[in-house]
Amino acid sequence: MSRRTPKLLSYQDCGKAEKELPGKVVWVTGASSGIGEELAYQLAKIGALLALSARRQDELERVKKRCLEISSLSDKDILVLRLDLTERSSHEAATKAVLQHFGRIDVLVNNGGRSQRSLFVDTSVDVYSAIMELNYLGTISLTKHVLNHMIERKKGKIVTVSSVMGIMGAPLATGYCASKHALQGFFNSLRPELGEYPGIVITNICPGPVQSKIIDNVFTEELSKSLEKPGDQSHKMPTDRCVRLILVSIVNDLKEAWISDNPYLAVCYLWQYAPTWAWWLLGKMGKKRIQNFKSGVDADVSYYQKKAA
Ligand SMILES: NC(=O)c1ccc[n+]([C@@H]2O[C@H](COP(=O)([O-])OP(=O)(O)OC[C@H]3O[C@@H](n4cnc5c(N)ncnc54)[C@H](OP(=O)(O)O)[C@@H]3O)[C@@H](O)[C@H]2O)c1
Repeated sequence: MSRRTPKLLSYQDCGKAEKELPGKVVWVTGASSGIGEELAYQLAKIGALLALSARRQDELERVKKRCLEISSLSDKDILVLRLDLTERSSHEAATKAVLQHFGRIDVLVNNGGRSQRSLFVDTSVDVYSAIMELNYLGTISLTKHVLNHMIERKKGKIVTVSSVMGIMGAPLATGYCASKHALQGFFNSLRPELGEYPGIVITNICPGPVQSKIIDNVFTEELSKSLEKPGDQSHKMPTDRCVRLILVSIVNDLKEAWISDNPYLAVCYLWQYAPTWAWWLLGKMGKKRIQNFKSGVDADVSYYQKKAA
């Protein structure tokens, strides 16, 4: 399941998350759906104190209500804080609000983001600007404010939900891949800058396809256009499986975790160790991906489903 497969798999069932995370203050962005929502539930069950952020306050309140139902947390243990990652001028005040409420931030999970389904030749440059503003600049802006606090305390964890598309390329996602590659480059460079703070850990999470609302919310050719047919998503990794492995990665201070089913995981390995083969394979898979997209099914569906006889 990861670049550090034996390590991640051997850690997953030892219950370290249940030992380490109770009482820890965890700020999750993108907590109103998908991976962030499931993170909120699993963290709540473990007993972590939560700051939940995204743009849709009502959805965050729904997630909070469910967290309270499934855990022993009380109302004050979960802070709902509306946050738009693209409104960078609001990030300092948001950080102060979390600190005022809990007194500290132990873990920041940079999870909020949007993907893309469109060919470069058809896509406005404004879309590329918006993707970078959200996935890259929004993330590093929030990180900057939270990191100041972690540097004062000399400890903390900054966890960023990147993607296997931060490792490899993929057609229909040129801007998304660029934004996730940018995050990988940024955090892999920030980590050695923090050498005098060994208590601050930087973790990059690289999931493959996971069940969530990501395809409903993708950027397309134009900012105002959404995807007409998101297609069935059931072939993707279940959200709870991905989130469990994210928690295992966090408590074991992994620098990078690849959390994916095949063929993406295999392509990641090829990309890392035999790129010439990876480029050849992606040429083949990419053709199929574009065909799928043009025929209105999920771009990745054919790697998982056998053809009907
Ligand atoms: N699902 C996958 O296959 C997959 C694979 C690899 C990586 N990822 C990454 O996982 C992360 C979570 O995605 P997901 O799959 O869970 O998709 P999702 O269900 O669409 O969730 C995305 C979250 O990001 C939030 N968000 C979007 N724009 C925002 C903004 N401007 N400011 C603040 N929050 C914003 C959304 O909340 P609001 O709309 O309420 O703001 C939502 O909570 C993303 O970074 C994505 O790139 C996903």
